[in-house]
Amino acid sequence: MYDTYQDSADASLRSGMQVPVHDPLMQVSAMPAVTSKLSFGITVSATYEQPYALARRFSSLDHLTGGRIAWNIVTSYLDGAARNLGMDRQMSHDERYELAAEVVDVCYKLWEGSWEEDAVVADRATKVYADPAKVHPIEHEGVYFSVPGIHLAEPSPQRTPVIWQAGTSSTGRAFAARNAEAVFTVAPTAQVLRGYVDDIRAQAAQAGRDPRSLLIFTEITTVVAPTDEEAQAKYAELLTWTDYEGALAFYAGITGVDLSALDPDQPLQYVETDSARFALEIFSGADPSREWTPREVAHFVGIGAMGPVFVGSPATVADELEHWMEAADIDGFNLAYAATPGTFVDFIDLVVPELQRRGRYWDEYDEGVTAREKLYGPGQRRVRKDHPAAVYRRDLATKATRPAVPTL
Ligand SMILES: Cc1cc2nc3c(=O)[nH]c(=O)nc-3n(C[C@H](O)[C@H](O)[C@H](O)COP(=O)(O)O)c2cc1C
Repeated sequence: MYDTYQDSADASLRSGMQVPVHDPLMQVSAMPAVTSKLSFGITVSATYEQPYALARRFSSLDHLTGGRIAWNIVTSYLDGAARNLGMDRQMSHDERYELAAEVVDVCYKLWEGSWEEDAVVADRATKVYADPAKVHPIEHEGVYFSVPGIHLAEPSPQRTPVIWQAGTSSTGRAFAARNAEAVFTVAPTAQVLRGYVDDIRAQAAQAGRDPRSLLIFTEITTVVAPTDEEAQAKYAELLTWTDYEGALAFYAGITGVDLSALDPDQPLQYVETDSARFALEIFSGADPSREWTPREVAHFVGIGAMGPVFVGSPATVADELEHWMEAADIDGFNLAYAATPGTFVDFIDLVVPELQRRGRYWDEYDEGVTAREKLYGPGQRRVRKDHPAAVYRRDLATKATRPAVPTL
């Protein structure tokens, strides 16, 4: 619950701001029955999970979807979450990332290192399902977890789901550089985003990974109509539906700063909090040429949260998308919505054909392709050899030659 603003959940409840929300893993388990082409990226915080159970849930979904699952790893930011999950307060910002590093390490061991490629024999004649000599206990003994056993699910098409990451503080970027195959970012300007992108790629290279193998996406919202004038009129109408208090409740929750206690017309100052640091940083110093007051931030995040809103004809919006791809050196976009399904329908009907004309968008969806193959191309079902999960791949190395896994 976003309950930082006025120390209460009222503004969030009144405006329906990220409440109610249902468990996405449950919903996604039903979705592959009605599509054979889409992949599903699910956000699960690594802060409150037992990795042994979580790894099984993702393996189950990877089986159910035929390998169309991605995990967007986040580390949470609301104190109330910790209190409702049995703690007095949330762990410090950086310790949450240390915990997340161990959570993913346990998961990588279970997904990649427990079952050998040919462990499942399913042999009717000998009545053997799996060869016990080829299913290995992971014997994990760490700071936060002790997981001696074997993975409960047999290998799924991708084994490790595609690893996404969202969280752009310096610690978050280090975590992304090590673990992410795709990064979910957000910034109000391409210039602010560029700084983050360059840093993530540089750190990935230092960690021995191909920096171009990290595909970076940023959140945007589009308001499109056949002409610029019609799109501006649509945007003006959408603005009348935004909720000033709901926007403040959102921003207060994510930053950990109760904005009701601040002068709405004085520029925001950066303060170190244990919440999501990027959210305060991008409006207080990431761009030295721009100051933001709480009132301006509330209007900005009212539509599209912390990303930009592109308003205009298909050509105008396509120009913006191309500009951001180049200026911020990103690989794609994560589409938020101002109205659903309207924002998506407009994008599909108007912007996609324009992008296809420009050779920026594919013409058809492939059937039977895993989430990872969509990012990296046919045949790339398993994590790349330079990804940290690959050190546990039994098809690549023997246990004796495996290097030690560096910590975050
Ligand atoms: C674009 C974006 C979307 C995010 N979505 C969520 C989310 O849905 N749930 C969540 O717990 N954290 C989400 N986060 C991540 C948290 O902000 C992050 O895990 C944590 O607070 C630390 O962020 P920091 O590294 O920026 O300080 C998101 C982050 C970004 C950049």
